[in-house]
Amino acid sequence: MKKLSQTHLKISPMGLGCMGMSEFYGQTNDQNSLQILEQAFHAGINFFDTADTYGHGHNEQLLGQFIAHYRTEREAMVIATKFGIVRAENHYKRRIDNTPDYIRSACEASLKRLGIEQIDLYYCHRRQPEIPIEDVTATLADLVQEGKIKSFGFSEISAQSLEKACAIAPVTAVQSEYSLWSREPEQSLLNTCQQLNVEFVAYSPLGRAFLTADLNPETMPENDFRKNLPRLQGEAFQSNQLLLKKFSDLCQSWQHSNAQIALAWLLRKHAHVTPIFGTRHSKYLQDNLTANQINLTTEQILQLDQLFAPDQIQGERYPDAGWTGIETA
Ligand SMILES: NC(=O)c1ccc[n+]([C@@H]2O[C@H](COP(=O)([O-])OP(=O)(O)OC[C@H]3O[C@@H](n4cnc5c(N)ncnc54)[C@H](OP(=O)(O)O)[C@@H]3O)[C@@H](O)[C@H]2O)c1
Repeated sequence: MKKLSQTHLKISPMGLGCMGMSEFYGQTNDQNSLQILEQAFHAGINFFDTADTYGHGHNEQLLGQFIAHYRTEREAMVIATKFGIVRAENHYKRRIDNTPDYIRSACEASLKRLGIEQIDLYYCHRRQPEIPIEDVTATLADLVQEGKIKSFGFSEISAQSLEKACAIAPVTAVQSEYSLWSREPEQSLLNTCQQLNVEFVAYSPLGRAFLTADLNPETMPENDFRKNLPRLQGEAFQSNQLLLKKFSDLCQSWQHSNAQIALAWLLRKHAHVTPIFGTRHSKYLQDNLTANQINLTTEQILQLDQLFAPDQIQGERYPDAGWTGIETA
């Protein structure tokens, strides 16, 4: 277990992301999702990630059902949720709200849906540039003082903004996309997190399934958001597939699945990185859990670094509407 700085919270080496259990990745089934949550918890995962926007509250309610079932073990769980993305139901387009009144009302609504008295880790999901980061941090620090949240963090924030936030109050975690094929945090954010003792939570560590080689855009249902990812379109997809083939061959020669190697790369590269993978399948959960036992050598890590050098990846990681509120600097 890993202790989160500024708190008494201890998290498992990897967390479970719940987003796909409500939205974005096609068909969902609540009964099945509850079983996966249970299996993950019994297997030692205690760090669960959700957001108010996933399924417009459905994801928090689902997690709330799970928490209610394990009420006596609530203290052993670390529940992370997020605020700030405002969307019309069934629409991807969003606006961002970081105003104090909005943060307070979103926090109350999340507490209610999750059925808990305190959120363990509360992230600002996206930044509204007109609201200074110092003001958002001050509002979150007030919520800690009031006992509504135990700790807070920021998602997709820049290194510069993180420094400003840390000057106001202790920040516990940063959550951004980070995987073999999304390496932006290596430019400065990872170092800044390390220097400021902030945990880095890596979302979409399996490249939303692309890295597992099990993703086929042609057979995805219409409601699968990944259909719109620039990296999975036309020539970009063809080019990225060639890279994926090389990766799959390498993983096979090392006698591990693609998912195991993608996760082991994150776990071995930086001590302050916690990957949160998503799954709705028991067999994938078991596969992913063993990643923490794989000791990649320095040479293997370097080989993977080079194979997925950022200039080898074709296409952006988000469609246009998805960049709203993401700080890239
Ligand atoms: N802060 C943010 O802006 C942000 C953005 C995106 C996500 N997130 C968080 O990060 C979490 C993880 O992101 P993600 O769901 O995109 O992560 P991911 O782990 O990169 O991708 C999940 C996909 O990979 C598949 N998969 C998982 N393990 C597999 C395996 N061993 N073999 C083959 N396929 C496998 C899953 O399939 P099945 O589901 O079919 O099992 C699912 O389609 C989310 O749930 C959410 O909590 C945060």
